[in-house]
Amino acid sequence: MEQRIIKADIIPEEDRTEAGLRPTSLAEYIGQEKAKKNLKVFIEAAKKRKESLDHVLLYGPPGLGKTTLAGIVAQEMGVNLKITSGPAIEKPGELAAILNNLSLNDVLFIDEIHRLNKQVEEVLYPAMEDFAIDIMIGKGQGARSIRLDLPRFTLIGATTRAGMLSAPLRDRFGVVDRLEFYNVSELMLILLRSAKVLGVALDEEGALEIAKRSRGTPRIANRLLKRVRDFAQVEHQGGIDYNVAKEALNKLDVDSAGLDQTDRHILDTIIYNFNGGPVGLDTLSAAIGEDPGTLEEVYEPYLIKNGFINRTPRGRVVTELCYRHFGLEHMLENGE
Ligand code: ADE
Repeated sequence: MEQRIIKADIIPEEDRTEAGLRPTSLAEYIGQEKAKKNLKVFIEAAKKRKESLDHVLLYGPPGLGKTTLAGIVAQEMGVNLKITSGPAIEKPGELAAILNNLSLNDVLFIDEIHRLNKQVEEVLYPAMEDFAIDIMIGKGQGARSIRLDLPRFTLIGATTRAGMLSAPLRDRFGVVDRLEFYNVSELMLILLRSAKVLGVALDEEGALEIAKRSRGTPRIANRLLKRVRDFAQVEHQGGIDYNVAKEALNKLDVDSAGLDQTDRHILDTIIYNFNGGPVGLDTLSAAIGEDPGTLEEVYEPYLIKNGFINRTPRGRVVTELCYRHFGLEHMLENGE
C-alpha cells in the first residue's frame, strides 16, 4: 500500500520533528484524561515509596501518544528512558543485554511488544516478575542455568494489537491503559501548541479544519499541520487560516471526515463488491489485500468510531452515514 499522509504509523524521517513536538510533562499532555489520571497517581505513589513504577501496558491505535507517554513517565519519575521495539530484538541475548544495562528504576519502552518472538518473550517473564534473568551456560550434559539479578525497572509495553499479546505477558503488567482517539477540541489544542513550537501562525478556524480531518490522532494532526504549512508558505503569506487549511487539505486528498484513499477503498469495496455488507473480516481483507488483524485493529477502529462501519455478528456493514458521506443516498434501501 502506498504511503498514506494520514496513516498513523511513524515515517522514519519524521521521527526527529515529531520528537520536537512531544510534550515532556503530564501537565502539558493534552487529552487521554483517564490514562493520565491513573498514571499521575501511580507515579506519585511510586515516588513516595521510592520504588520503580509497576509495569505499564499501553494499547490502542497508532499515533495516539504511547511513546510520548513513556517519555513523560520517565521524566516525571526522574529516570532514564530506553526505547526499543518488538521486531528490533531478535535474540534472547539481545534483550538480556538491554535489561542488564538498565539503572535502578529506569523505564524500558518496548514498542510493538506483540511482535516479540517467543524465546525473547520468555526472558521477559522472570525479568518483569522477579527482576532477574536466567542465563544458560555450557552445552549438553554440563549445561546449567544461572540467575542474574537486575535492577528494579519499569517496562512500558505498547501495542496496537492487544489481542495478539500472550496471556502470560499481559498478566505481568500491573497497569493497563487503553488510549482513545482524541476529540476535535483536544486536537485543536495540540495543533495550536505545535504551531507555536514550529513558529507558524495558525488561527482557531484553521486549527479546527485540520483537527476535523486528523482522524482523532495527534500524529496525523501534526503531520497535516506541517504539510499545510508548506502550502501556506509557498502559495500564501505564511499563516494558516480556514481557507488556507481547507485548500491545502483538499490538495492533499484528505476529505472532510479525514478519510483518505485507503479508507475509501475499504468502504467502496464493502459498498460495491459486497452490496454494503455484511461481509466477514477475512473476506474483506482478502478483497482489499490487507492482513485481517491490521484491518481490524489499525484501519477499522476509526471507521467504526465515526459510524462509517458497523460490526455485526454476520460481518461488517457500511452505515447510512457512510452512504450519505459519499453522496450515495440513492443506494439506501428505502430509496431516500
Ligand atoms: N503532541 C502529540 N500528542 C500530544 C498530546 N497528547 N498533548 C500535547 N501535545 C501532543
